This record gives sequence, C-alpha cells and structure tokens, in this order.
Amino acid sequence: MKFLSAATLLLTAPLVSAASLPSLFDPSQVTIKTAEPQFPVEGDNPLEYCQNPENHILKIESVNLSPNPPQPGQTLNIKANGTLNERIEKGATVSLEVKWGLITLIKQTVDLCKELENVDMECPLEKGEMSLTKQVDLPKQIPPGKYSILADVYDKDQKQVTCLKANDITFHL
Ligand SMILES: *[C@@H]1O[C@H](CO)[C@@H](O)[C@H](O)[C@H]1NC(C)=O
Repeated sequence: MKFLSAATLLLTAPLVSAASLPSLFDPSQVTIKTAEPQFPVEGDNPLEYCQNPENHILKIESVNLSPNPPQPGQTLNIKANGTLNERIEKGATVSLEVKWGLITLIKQTVDLCKELENVDMECPLEKGEMSLTKQVDLPKQIPPGKYSILADVYDKDQKQVTCLKANDITFHL
C-alpha cells in the first residue's frame, strides 16, 4: 500500500471529518450527508460523472445495478447501455482509482480493450448503440468501510470517452 499523498488527504479529509462529526442535536441520529451528485448517471446506481458529460464520446443512457448498492458475498448484476459517438480502437485507456477511506488501494492506468474482455466485449467498439449485461460474484470478505471509485476513460487519441466516480460506497460487516 502506498503512503497517502498530500492530494489524497486534501481531497478526502474534509469529507471524512464532516462525516465523523456527530449531530449536535440528536446523538442517536448520526446521519452521514454527502453532497448531492452534480451529474448523476441515470438508473439505479451510485455513479456520477466526474464532470459535465456533454463532450464525452460515450453517452450513457442508463446503468442499473442490482442489488444497489452492491453487497459482499452476493452476485452483482450490471446492466448498462448507451451510445458511442465514435469508434473506440485499441490503445484506449482507463485510469482507475479505488480508495478505502483515506487509503488509496488502487491507482493505475489499464488497457480498456483488455478490460473489456472481462465483459465479453472486444475492440474496436463500433460507433452507435451498445449495451452490456454482466454478473459479478463479489467476495464475502470485502473489508468493511467506505470505498470511493474513479474511472477516467480515454480513447487512443486522448479524447475523453467517459469519466465516472462513486463516492462513499459502504460495506458493512
Ligand atoms: C437502455 O436501458 C434502459 C433501462 O434498462 C431501457 O429502458 C432502455 O430501453 C434501453 N435502451 C435501449 C436503446 O436499449
């Protein structure tokens, strides 16, 4: 595991400190409020866009997860569809970041086309409508806590395909 970067701390410290402050008015009702997502992704999912998606190559129509939020030890069903405004060829990348609380568990850039093999798709992805259905068996032993995920996708010419994030996905024991 890596040392916390200053940036990581700067980004997450306000959230975490806000979340750990108990309510002054009713200590039995400690609720965690996070900001309303600015650009939520349509459907039953915890995702939002990192920024206004209007210039993204992928226009997501909807993403449905069941159960939502995902549960350890259960099969996660993913259904998603959308429209690609350009063909996606080999060389596209995904920058992935996964945090567990303040700790960065994953921060790496991977080959999009290789990752797509996991959902039975392959490059090139042709322009037009697309959909995907996938089942993932989540391990029982996911350490409890709050997870945040960020996935930033670029095509081979460094044009943004999409950028998605999910903050504060909580797994309980
Ligand atoms: C995309 O998925 C949504 C929700 O499952 C569905 O209502 C919609 O008809 C789908 N669109 C296409 C083009 O398949």
